[in-house]
Amino acid sequence: MKRAIYPGSFDPFTLGHLDILQRVVGIFDEITVAVLHNPNKKPLFTVAERIDLIKEATEHMGHVVVDSFEGLVVDYAKIKGATTLVRGLREVSDFENELKMAHMNRHLDSDVGTVFIPTSPEYSFVSSSLVKEVASHGGRVTAFVPSGVEQALYQKYQKV
Ligand code: PNS
Repeated sequence: MKRAIYPGSFDPFTLGHLDILQRVVGIFDEITVAVLHNPNKKPLFTVAERIDLIKEATEHMGHVVVDSFEGLVVDYAKIKGATTLVRGLREVSDFENELKMAHMNRHLDSDVGTVFIPTSPEYSFVSSSLVKEVASHGGRVTAFVPSGVEQALYQKYQKV
């Protein structure tokens, strides 16, 4: 069984993330969207909220599991029996850091490789941070996030 992990902060999950997932889901028997629980960061959405929002946005897709992890992603991959990490690339500048992470992960566990998927051009400028900034000022983010995430954002910022 070919298993992959799609790790990230997903604070929140965007249509760019969904686009990446849709394009890799056919390649693997199972893909786990793994939300990083990072105690050093103060996210907008709790891990449980992020998981629920991702589940809602991906419920129409088969072979997708949503989970969270703490610590090293390669350790989590080992527990899940996965040897591939999936990461999206929006622009060339993303590649620099992503390549470093891929090399580090490969160093930490030589069984784990990284697959990079270029984001579709319409989402190349979309990031969770930008979406939060727009939503926090009451701007519309309909084009960039699943509808459940849009509602959740407006509720967080009380601009319902
Ligand atoms: O959505 P993000 O914030 O770009 O995702 C980054 C993430 C979660 C993939 C990365 O920070 C990560 O894997 N963190 C877990 C800790 C770890 O394994 N670090 C070593 C990777 S070089």
